[in-house]
Amino acid sequence: MTTPTCRICETPLHTFLDLGHHPLSSAFVAPGDAVDGARDAFRYRLAVGHCARCALVQLTDDIPHERRPYQGYPYHSSGSAVMREHFRATGTQLLRTEMRGKRDAFAVEIGCTDGVVLRTLADAGVRTLAFEPSGYSGHGGVRVHRTFLTAGSARDVVAVEGRARVVYAANTVCDIADLPGFFAGLDELLAADGVFVFEDPYFGEILGRTAFDQFYDEHRYYFTATSVRALAERFGFRLVGIERLPVHGGQLRYTLARPGRRTPAPAVAELLAEEEARGLTVPAALAAFADRVDRVRRDLVALLQGLRAAGRTVAGYAATAKSCTVTTYCGLGPHLVPYVCDSTPAKQGRLTPGARIPVRPPGAFAAPYPDYALLFAWNHAAEIMAAERAFRAVGGRWILYVPEVHVV
Ligand code: TMP
Ligand code: ZN
Repeated sequence: MTTPTCRICETPLHTFLDLGHHPLSSAFVAPGDAVDGARDAFRYRLAVGHCARCALVQLTDDIPHERRPYQGYPYHSSGSAVMREHFRATGTQLLRTEMRGKRDAFAVEIGCTDGVVLRTLADAGVRTLAFEPSGYSGHGGVRVHRTFLTAGSARDVVAVEGRARVVYAANTVCDIADLPGFFAGLDELLAADGVFVFEDPYFGEILGRTAFDQFYDEHRYYFTATSVRALAERFGFRLVGIERLPVHGGQLRYTLARPGRRTPAPAVAELLAEEEARGLTVPAALAAFADRVDRVRRDLVALLQGLRAAGRTVAGYAATAKSCTVTTYCGLGPHLVPYVCDSTPAKQGRLTPGARIPVRPPGAFAAPYPDYALLFAWNHAAEIMAAERAFRAVGGRWILYVPEVHVV
């Protein structure tokens, strides 16, 4: 097998974690289709590497484009009240900062979070547009341009709308196959003094929390301040701002501007220094991380097997994309987790990819409650545990596996 190379600079990668072969995290299967040739039959190798040259942590294997589903995509980012509020607050913050006094300006979102950010801007009078190739068709004044951002599609938009004051993206840049093409589009689209603001899971948090379930097919890159600075400079931009976000298990929001346009905020140098001091991606830290991941797998399987042997009932909670990594890597299936409850209608009545665990609506959780619930949506723990207070009250216990396997 050839050594995988960095998607950006083609340096051979140091592969530090290999979780084996996985189905696509969105390949939910209708029970009648659960035979060979089903949607979840395709496997890719889920392994993660680090580029010593540009510091970028990334999946080592490419998933063929035609395998990647965009139509009927089951994910809705604002299915969580906390996330809706997060995106509303993001829109408000952009209005207060970047759009201040420039309400007639143009703002663009790449991959559009159910439109919450843009709708907040549009409500304040900002002209908005989303680049969104999936099925989402826009509502509440949010217009959609159904393509990826490239130099060509950006020129088409700029010819009609002018250049954008703000370009925003949440959980999108980490999955862009063609980053050179994307940044060429950004260069066409962004006004001279405009900013590109984007947020994605932070590798520093993944490492710190042993959150290996952040690795799946729809996240190709796991950014750090160090790697985003290098990426920005490679494509003619500068990293000028960083903000830590509590959502989705710990994210960073990066602000990029054109060279010489903004003085970098102190937080940038601070986090770069912290990453350096922490030795975030030195081989020993990555090897220790891989050992902790293996430990989580062994502990989780032992706990679930022990519960089954003791006659305890277990259900999964939230059929997240992340859960696909956990069930596949740990070999979990209906024998250990007989069903999983999830609020997404498109997932209900189907089987999870690979593990083939039946998905039931949230109402099934209490009918009757299991003794233990394995919380796959640990990033929404506060919201879910509050909504499911009654489960604890009748003696139910949550199983979490981040940062290590524990029961609460
Ligand atoms: P995410 O972690 O990628 O946002 O995925 C959230 C998944 O969790 C999605 O399938 C919906 C499910 N979910 C619930 O079932 N109940 C909830 O209260 C929340 C917040 C999410
Ligand atoms: Zn590289």
